[in-house]
Amino acid sequence: MADLSTVFTGIRFENPFLLASAPPTESESNIMRAYEAGWGGVVTKTIGLHPVVNVRGPKTKFLRVDDGGTRISMAKRENSTLVASWNWELISDKPMDWWLPRIENIKRAWPGRVLVASIMAGSGTDKELQAWQTLVEGVQGAGADAIELNFSCPHMDRVDMGANVGKDPVLCSVSTQAVKEVAKVPVWVKLTPATADIVEEAEATFRGGADAIVSSNTFPSVPLVDPDTLEFEVNVDGYVSSGGLGGPAILAQSLAKMAQMTQAFPGREFSGIGGISGWIHALNYFLLGCGTVQVATAAMLDHAIGPNVIRDLTDGMDAFLERHADRGWTTLADFRGLRRGNIVAQSQIGRPESSEYHGGYEEEAEGYARPVPTA
Ligand SMILES: Cc1cc2nc3c(=O)[nH]c(=O)nc-3n(C[C@H](O)[C@H](O)[C@H](O)COP(=O)(O)O)c2cc1C
Repeated sequence: MADLSTVFTGIRFENPFLLASAPPTESESNIMRAYEAGWGGVVTKTIGLHPVVNVRGPKTKFLRVDDGGTRISMAKRENSTLVASWNWELISDKPMDWWLPRIENIKRAWPGRVLVASIMAGSGTDKELQAWQTLVEGVQGAGADAIELNFSCPHMDRVDMGANVGKDPVLCSVSTQAVKEVAKVPVWVKLTPATADIVEEAEATFRGGADAIVSSNTFPSVPLVDPDTLEFEVNVDGYVSSGGLGGPAILAQSLAKMAQMTQAFPGREFSGIGGISGWIHALNYFLLGCGTVQVATAAMLDHAIGPNVIRDLTDGMDAFLERHADRGWTTLADFRGLRRGNIVAQSQIGRPESSEYHGGYEEEAEGYARPVPTA
């Protein structure tokens, strides 16, 4: 019989599917509804100690392409298909004191489901590192099963927060270490995908003591200009700043980032996010070596917490395991990482005449290193 339960960073999950930190997880009632719908875990909207004031007007929009056409726009219309979400929303605007009793209530009502508290602080000074520790002590004291450090929000003004931490291996390591000094529960770290080589930040984060890495947050992006008004489709007084792209458009890019890390650290644990709306997308992350996956955009568009999405994920994975029962597969562990080794350097890909290809060089010239196999 298929069994979707799994153990990730020492925590038992009824299934490996979590709602990611985003609007679906910013209230007690939404989180309870998510568990009722069947999600194995929930990551809260990121909680911080610093003041949070969002921009005027809409914080999230959805980009759609005309069916059979080329127009990509945020305008709501018939006969169009979702391409991506775009947002410039900051972390939760509710203070930690608002969150803690709610975390307690949720855990009291749903002790068997996993609640991960996403947190964010600065990293420039000892005072800021202490803010991380205050957050950790608060949320774990209230009953959170694990903590996710937000090193990935792409639209922070502060240079010591969010993706600005995730872009700096030293800050990644130091902030994780500060958290690990006081954490009694597993620490997951959500890295930004917006760096040249995410393996460097992953290495620093593991060195700081992280129990798992989570990727991807949204990718830096700007809205399109409306061809009639010449205004950005999202703007305040005509101005826009870089925001985050999520949903189907980032699936393949997020998978590429994840593949780099699971290959570099095959013995480590990873939670995959980015463009997941159905079980086939989740399967791709599992085949690269992820132990859990998370969903934001697709859930936002499905009754706010994704009841149909979680049904597709669990039913689809159950049926997948049943179909492969003849291989002896009954759990995720039976096929996790199965395709991790199949992403290799170009030079290792077959050619009609492989003897004629020397990694882009004319011949195996003296002085040039042979392409190094990565697998
Ligand atoms: C409106 C919105 C708000 C978000 N807020 C947070 C947040 O507070 N903390 C965080 O770590 N990620 C946040 N995210 C990122 C998501 O958790 C997720 O990493 C990203 O959307 C990619 O997943 P998706 O393709 O399923 O949307 C937010 C995403 C959206 C769309």
